[in-house]
Amino acid sequence: MKRILAWLGVVVVVLAAAGFVAFLYFIPPFTLVKPEEFSRPMGTAGPDLTKISDPTERMLAERGHYLVTLGSCSDCHSTPGPQGPRIGDMYLAGGFKATRKGHGTYVSSNLTSDQATGIGSWTDEDLKRVLRSGQSPDGTSVPGHLMPWPAYSHLTDEDLHAIVVYLRRTAPIVHAIPKATEASFTDPTAYEEDYAGVDYAAPPK
Ligand code: HEC
Repeated sequence: MKRILAWLGVVVVVLAAAGFVAFLYFIPPFTLVKPEEFSRPMGTAGPDLTKISDPTERMLAERGHYLVTLGSCSDCHSTPGPQGPRIGDMYLAGGFKATRKGHGTYVSSNLTSDQATGIGSWTDEDLKRVLRSGQSPDGTSVPGHLMPWPAYSHLTDEDLHAIVVYLRRTAPIVHAIPKATEASFTDPTAYEEDYAGVDYAAPPK
């Protein structure tokens, strides 16, 4: 009788351990969803480029899509929703809000091809200038620590062109974005960031 009980105990412990391991194995996302799967929708979002008949244009647009994904443009420039950027229905339509101490609040712009609220009426040069130097056509500048144009300024002319070609292919989404508020941009070259309330770029007292 004792032996049977002992064996029963062993069986119960083994089953419990196996059950626990199975539980760990099946709780998403660790095993069911691979890390790269999480970000997959970002890379596959956007217009269907296979419909472009001109092979050069298609190649450029595909390159542009690749660069927009890697440049994380779609992260910041897609309208935020409760589950992150709404890449399904508001891909690149803008509306992400960022506040920087000493600079004000900025809202990412609409990069879709819409004429009135997107970049539809911008010239190629206007777009390239923003990516090279953060200078907008209206004379304002985009803070480099908000949008990483200092990194983008290293793009080759060909890559800049590819990004422009791609952005022109995006579906137009009507989404008006307010311009930066209270942008007290005293020194556009200063790198100011709110590091736990300490402004390292502020002049010494
Ligand atoms: C970390 C966030 C972030 C990333 C990444 C980012 N942007 Fe921006 N971008 C912004 C914000 C915020 C603004 C609005 C700044 C303002 O109002 O002056 C902006 C503005 C712009 C503007 C418009 C400037 C204007 O005057 O209206 C363009 C064009 C632009 N971004 C293109 C891009 C492209 C293309 C990429 C990817 C290569 C990109 N951005 C990546 C945050 C970002």
